Amino acid sequence: MPSYRPTETPAWKALEAHCTAIRHTHLRELFEQDPGRAGRFSLEAAGIFLDYSKNRIDATTLGLLLELARTADVGGWIGRMFSGEAINLTEGRAVLHTALRNRSNTPVRVDGEDVMPAVNAVLAQMHEFSKSVRSHTWRGHTGRPITDVVNIGIGGSHLGPEMATRALAPYTRDDLRLHFVSNVDGADIGAVLRRLDAETTLFIVASKTFTTQETLTNAHTARDWLVQRLGSEAAVARHFVAVSTNAGEVAAFGIDTRNMFGFWDWVGGRYSLWSAIGLPIAVAVGMENFERLLDGAHAMDRHFRDSPPAANMPVILALLGIWYRNFLGAASHAVLPYDQSLQRLPAYLQQADMESNGKGVTRAGEPVAWDTGPVLWGEPGTNGQHAFYQLIHQGTQLVPVDFIAPVESHHPVGDHHRILLANCLAQGEALMRGKTAAEVRAELSAGGLSGAALESAVPHRVFPGNRPSNTLLVDRLTPERLGALIALYEHKIFVQGVIWNVNSFDQWGVELGKQLARAILPELEPGAAVGGHDSSTAALIRRCRGGN
Ligand code: F6P
Repeated sequence: MPSYRPTETPAWKALEAHCTAIRHTHLRELFEQDPGRAGRFSLEAAGIFLDYSKNRIDATTLGLLLELARTADVGGWIGRMFSGEAINLTEGRAVLHTALRNRSNTPVRVDGEDVMPAVNAVLAQMHEFSKSVRSHTWRGHTGRPITDVVNIGIGGSHLGPEMATRALAPYTRDDLRLHFVSNVDGADIGAVLRRLDAETTLFIVASKTFTTQETLTNAHTARDWLVQRLGSEAAVARHFVAVSTNAGEVAAFGIDTRNMFGFWDWVGGRYSLWSAIGLPIAVAVGMENFERLLDGAHAMDRHFRDSPPAANMPVILALLGIWYRNFLGAASHAVLPYDQSLQRLPAYLQQADMESNGKGVTRAGEPVAWDTGPVLWGEPGTNGQHAFYQLIHQGTQLVPVDFIAPVESHHPVGDHHRILLANCLAQGEALMRGKTAAEVRAELSAGGLSGAALESAVPHRVFPGNRPSNTLLVDRLTPERLGALIALYEHKIFVQGVIWNVNSFDQWGVELGKQLARAILPELEPGAAVGGHDSSTAALIRRCRGGN
């Protein structure tokens, strides 16, 4: 059977024709024509309200996009993922982050074996451990309680825990501080260790493979620092725990495997915060709140698995993304949280989205002839408004936007939250409506400007509008809502991968750099032979080692 190529389907071709017809329709017109538009194009699921009415779509667009999803067999793939089929073909693995938060506890089988007992056992182990640290039962080598926990990991073993711990800061305690070290740049670990007391510091070394160069380098530095400060190798047992799938390497590092929290190869790194990789979150906010995070994700999983495509939030977000990427030519997608605690969400989603769908071949290994994942980026509003929003409003690129905001704040300080929300809503409205030349002229002449001065000012002040955005609101950023929000994006990414016919669960594109770095590392020793490189790389190696 020839493999599915989305661009060759009737649904794709119909969307292309439709795109030509609708491309110049302005969102203003669509709102004017249909007073019920906001209601028609909005959804609520797992405590998240999505208004997608400010997208450049009409009922026909949505119908055709849903037809594309049907052609790509999105429903079938959802079933395959949840049932534990090995859909990560290049690694021969199931994709079961949903089992990690399967709060219904119904059996989920991999190779015939129910994984839920093992999932629950690790959750119980996390519960026990986080409770002992938080209650000061877990003591350091010298008998003092733990005040600082340092997570050492990178990529999926870093971004999720860091993002969620910051997002749930209102649920943390001041007497237990979390730190994150990821970069192999010594400045990262140096800045953290400088502030810490070895007697009261606990390190979580988080690595699925336990072979990642950056993580192991940082972990060895932390270990040396601790042993030097406490004067004994025996101290490692009370100050280091590991999260990994690789017990052999954990033991080789010198961590007692009784202090190891396991997970499984069917958990992708960037989908792993729900596993023991979430241990720093559980330590920071307590296991009850970590479980609430799982509950929220599970609620979104059920919505995703059981809702018809037209009422399915991840499917709708995915289809809108496809519409902009493949039909309206958007190369990037901005995620703009109006919540300071979500400051690391864009970075987290960068890995989730770009490592998943930044692919150039189909599942069958044929080159794709269509665009796949966009560049994902973002910053919390309102900071972005005073930095890059200019380009989104008046630049030459189309940048679809997701605004995310909680209706209520955990920090009710004066008028801050109302001001924040006003800005969020205003940005969506401004992007959608724009400001016409006639409106600008009327404003300027009301302000006393006229003639040539007025006319020369007009073009700079016109906003084209017709720039799309989704607005996602939660009542409050609770652990449940955060869980649902992350699961929403995970499933959106999955649906897009299905439509693009790529494997969203491998990441071969990170390997070449690792391989070449291993070769260059010994060549940075002064006097070592430098070979097998292009003239640029060879000269740069020599310059980095001082010209010799
Ligand atoms: O290099 C990319 C990657 O493999 C990610 O997919 C992963 O999240 C990260 O490295 C860290 O890997 P590990 O958890 O095995 O240290």
